Amino acid sequence: MSKQIEKLTLHSEFEVYASEADLLPEEQDLVKKAKEALQAAYAPYSHFFVGAAVLLGNGEVIIGNNQENAAYPSGLCAERVAIFHAGARFPGVPVKTIAISCKAQNQVINDPVSPCGACRQAIAEYETRYASPIRIIMSGESGKIYVANSIEALLPLMFNRKYLK
Ligand code: THU
Repeated sequence: MSKQIEKLTLHSEFEVYASEADLLPEEQDLVKKAKEALQAAYAPYSHFFVGAAVLLGNGEVIIGNNQENAAYPSGLCAERVAIFHAGARFPGVPVKTIAISCKAQNQVINDPVSPCGACRQAIAEYETRYASPIRIIMSGESGKIYVANSIEALLPLMFNRKYLK
């Protein structure tokens, strides 16, 4: 017989906005940059275009979009293209916010796009790297916007450097 001692219930919170127009002007601008970035995505296989815009502590904005490959797993998501590029250009400068948006060729996406598991892990690394939470603004082509104040909301019980001491 097993001896469970308790139940762990996790709770995640997201701010919800009816549309982009309800965000702060600087956050609207970041979403706009993510939407611009998705126009240049290289997605000839999925026809699913994702853009990301990363705001850094020094005010710089770095964009990324998904880059696909005929050998599918060799491609990379927009979020990691953006955040790795930010790390490459401005090592030591914390990531404050990442805005993500998407557009599909064959349907209208009315739901906010949510980063895949691997991108959540990559975002988590940058939170721990700079010991500073990253605000994550998720939007679709239209519809509501979800905002998380930290990757903790999307990746509870995450694996991080505390296991590697
Ligand atoms: N993709 C992203 O770039 N970010 C996400 O958050 C979800 C998925 C890309 C990967 C692939 O190029 C395409 O979308 C379909 O999965």
